[in-house]
Amino acid sequence: MKVTVVGAGAVGATCADNIARKELAEELVLLDIKEGLAEGKALDMMQTAALLGFDTKIIGSSSDYAKTAGSDVVVITSGLPRKPGMTREELIGTNAGIVRGVTENILKHSPNAILIIVSNPMDTMTYLALQASGIPKERVIGMGGALDSARFRCYLSMALNCSPADLNAVVVGGHGDTTMIPLIRFATWNSVPVTKFLSEEQQKKIVADTMVGGATLTKLIGTSAWYAPGAAGASMVEAIVRDEKKLITCSVSLNGEFGQKDICMGVPVILGKKGWEKILDFSLNQEEQAAFNKSADAVRSMNDVLKTL
Ligand SMILES: NC(=O)c1ccc[n+]([C@@H]2O[C@H](COP(=O)([O-])OP(=O)(O)OC[C@H]3O[C@@H](n4cnc5c(N)ncnc54)[C@H](O)[C@@H]3O)[C@@H](O)[C@H]2O)c1
Repeated sequence: MKVTVVGAGAVGATCADNIARKELAEELVLLDIKEGLAEGKALDMMQTAALLGFDTKIIGSSSDYAKTAGSDVVVITSGLPRKPGMTREELIGTNAGIVRGVTENILKHSPNAILIIVSNPMDTMTYLALQASGIPKERVIGMGGALDSARFRCYLSMALNCSPADLNAVVVGGHGDTTMIPLIRFATWNSVPVTKFLSEEQQKKIVADTMVGGATLTKLIGTSAWYAPGAAGASMVEAIVRDEKKLITCSVSLNGEFGQKDICMGVPVILGKKGWEKILDFSLNQEEQAAFNKSADAVRSMNDVLKTL
């Protein structure tokens, strides 16, 4: 397997580090537009191999896409991150051009690659990559739900004082502070609904904290977070390269599922060697469906901005 990560910034480098440590690829390419950055980080990571005991060949590249040729999976993290007080949506003007250009360059050298889009606003960037590439929809996958669901499990585990590994909890909808929908009704603690152990007030707080999980970190750190986003991207790479058939919430193109069409949004999908292989479409209750529709309206109006750029 060959994997490329575009963008050797905070998220891209962390994602690459996770991919290397887990030996998800024989060859891993890290590419960035900043001269020397990807080469430097790739070499630094290669020097951890002897200490950590992994056997992944890591190659850095300053915009030389020939080095990415024949990649099976490509993670696109290139683009501006948000600063405190900014929404993900405010990044569209700059990031749309970057994601479009990167997608075109990648596919010239790796026409069969599966693309994982991380750059924000992620649902719209996934929609853009799908339109710009013209490749089958199963090969264009946005990373948002994997991260948001991990944050949801983190806040639940802190409230329940339990291991996050014992929790199942998903966040669907758009990947935005006001558009994501943590489905607490379906969250379980080793198959027992968590709602049995949490007051209404606690549940509301966990949902609210999850929704602003990214903004909370941006405020604390001064830029967008990277450990969990990088690990979330790598977990999707793992599900694909190991053909795990894992159920992970990802932003994918909907064709009537959850009542929406012509849009990329977060829904639970099976990830395997072909990309996303199946959407787990199930009935939401009236309140959840209304929230999903409202979230779709917001994502759609962001997609409309693409036409003006
Ligand atoms: N989907 C998610 O859940 C999620 C989570 C965190 C961050 N993000 C997004 O991921 C992106 C990266 O965040 P970050 O914190 O790593 O930012 P960063 O600034 O640390 O890294 C971005 C890198 O992209 C590079 N870059 C810019 N244009 C490029 C191009 N045309 N080709 C190649 N490389 C290019 C930059 O040189 C930089 O090194 C941001 O858009 C951020 O909002 C998404």
